[in-house]
Parts: sequence; structure tokens; C-alpha cells
Amino acid sequence: MASKPPIRVAVTGAAGNIGYALLFRIASGQMLGEDQPVILQLLEIPVEGPQKALRGVAMELEDCAFPLLQDMILTGDADTAFRDANWCLLVGSKPRGPGMERADLLKDNGKIFVAQGRSIDKVAADDARIAVVGNPCNTNCMIAASQAKRLGQDRFTAMVRLDENRGRALLARKAGVAVGEVSELFIYGNHSPTMFADFTHARIGGRPASEVIGDKAWLEGEYLPTVGKRGAAVIEARGQSSAASAANALVDHVRGLVTPGALHAVAVPSHGRYGFSEGVWAGMPVRSTGTGYEVVTSYDMDAFAKSKIKITNDELVAERDTVKEMLA
Ligand code: NAD
Ligand code: LMR
Repeated sequence: MASKPPIRVAVTGAAGNIGYALLFRIASGQMLGEDQPVILQLLEIPVEGPQKALRGVAMELEDCAFPLLQDMILTGDADTAFRDANWCLLVGSKPRGPGMERADLLKDNGKIFVAQGRSIDKVAADDARIAVVGNPCNTNCMIAASQAKRLGQDRFTAMVRLDENRGRALLARKAGVAVGEVSELFIYGNHSPTMFADFTHARIGGRPASEVIGDKAWLEGEYLPTVGKRGAAVIEARGQSSAASAANALVDHVRGLVTPGALHAVAVPSHGRYGFSEGVWAGMPVRSTGTGYEVVTSYDMDAFAKSKIKITNDELVAERDTVKEMLA
């Protein structure tokens, strides 16, 4: 059987912690499919330390002899990394340390996404799709998308899948069931402690999660902050931010977006849906069409859910105000 044409995947920050946990999974076929050849186009900052580390990672990728890995491009130049890329995975940026909020990274990291948004719009493939991981990812995604004139804004997505996975795992643990029993748990809003992990529509073993858990006080008072602050808890425990689980979530994010019918939370331009302000990138449920996605707008929110969505929306609007000079 003739093999499929390769998909070009650009990854920024490729020699970083998430990069190290991510690239091998892409090259093995876990992200785009076990019969899908890939070309990795790897960007690192153009100074010797990171470039040398990148060469080391590439040596290890070679040493895996992945049949699907057709080629690798290692570069410090954004246009070279994004040229003809079908997927642009924007990971490269500073992670937060203990005691910081993700929004503290905004000014430092935001400017990376101005330049990369422009470059992607200039040189990436016509069907390019973008996934932003570098924090604060919703607003960085908005910054990158604002630079795009050729590619539609809806191509730019940010990752809330790690939060969704955390939320599912915690519900399953509380209910004493396997994680596969949890469905329809979606993250609304920002990838920050204000996010709303919507337990009100989640199901466990097909039944409403709130009925199965039977403890509203726990769901509202303990579950939500535990999911929202899980990133900080990992930093506190590990001394650095989550990497393997973030890479895993990115594999899930992209796989969900290329698998027709898959339903999961993705941060997308809100277009006013679920009460989010026009122009912010907010997590919400989307269903993949394979080459694109549809936002699922059928979940009715009760007063509690609406109050949580308002809080996370207010934060997204405040972040947008902070970076307004970076928006094209
Ligand atoms: P890291 O410091 O280990 O790696 C980041 C890499 O990016 C470094 O190698 C650095 O040289 C490179 N880099 C920096 N600026 C760059 C640029 N302009 N172009 C190309 N490369 C550049 O950090 P990490 O642990 O891999 O985390 C990366 C980002 O992902 C951080 O912002 C972190 O907060 C974020 N993150 C997001 C989520 C999420 O769920 N959205 C989860 C975990 C981490
Ligand atoms: C996470 O959620 O683990 C990442 O966004 C890293 C962080 O700063 O919390």
C-alpha cells in the first residue's frame, strides 16, 4: 500500500521539557495516526545552548528508528520552522516557577507570539492549524491569531486538555471508578485557576456526575479549586512545571481535533458563545469534523455555572487589556 504524504509538524521550544516528552510520541504515530508519516520542524532559540540541546534530542529521535519519521529540520529561524507546516505546536516560552501565576508570564511570553503568529501566517501551509501551549496559553493564542491575515482565526486553538484530563481523573478517583467511565466533562474559559470544570453536565457511568458523587459542597468547594490549582501543585511538588502530562494533553488535543466526531474541550475564539466576550479565546466543548471543528452550544448553564463562567471571562478580558498593544 502506498504510504500517505507526510504531515509537517512544527514544534517550538523543542529542546525544552515538554518538547522532550512530546516529540517521541508524535514520531511514533500516537498523535496523528499509526499510518501517518511526519516531518518534524523543530524551533529553538538561536543560541548555542538550546541549539546544541536540540541536536541531542534529534540524535535520540534518530536512534529510535521510527518508521513514520521521514525527516527533521532543526532551526533557530521561525520562517524555516513554520514553512509549509500543517500543524504548528507553540510550546516554546518561559514556564512559571513556584509562587507565580500564569498571567505573570504575559508580558515576557506575549511578544514571542506576535512574531510567531506573523511568521505562521506568512509561510505555513494553507491548511495549517495551530495549538498554543506556552502560558498564558489562551491569551498567547489570541495574540498569535491577531497577526493572521491569511489563515482564519478559528485555526488558532489553545490547550485546556490538561485541565480536562485532570478533571476527569479526579472525578473518577472520587467516585471510585475507572477514568473511562467519566464523560462530558468540559473546561470552560481560561487555563488558569478561574477555569470552570463543568461537573454540572459531566457523567459517570452514563449518570449525572453530581448524582453519583452526591456531595455538592465537595464539587463546588473542593473539586473546582483542586483542578484549577493542579498546575501549581505539580510545580510545588516537582520544582518545575508539568511536562509529561502537558505533552500527553497536547497529543490528546491534536488527536481529538483530527478524529471526526471526537468531543473535547478546546480554547477557541469565543464568538460570544456561552456568555464569553467576543474576541477572547475560551475553553468550550468542540466536536471535530476531521479537518475542522464545531463548537457544541447545547449545554444549558445554571446560575452557578454562569457565575463561574463570568469570573473566568472577566480574567480573559483583563489579560486582553494587558496585552492590547501586542494585538494587531
Ligand atoms: P522549558 O523551559 O523546559 O522549555 C521551553 C523551551 O522553549 C526552552 O527550550 C526555550 O529555549 C524555548 N524557547 C523559549 N523561547 C522560544 C522562542 N521564542 N522560540 C522557540 N523556542 C523558545 O518549558 P516547558 O516546561 O517545556 O514549558 C513550555 C511552556 O508550556 C511554558 O510556558 C509552560 O508554562 C507551558 N505549559 C502549558 C501547559 C498548558 O496546559 N497549557 C502545561 C504545561 C506547561
Ligand atoms: C500546568 O497547568 O501544569 C501548566 O500550565 C504549568 C503551570 O504553570 O501551571
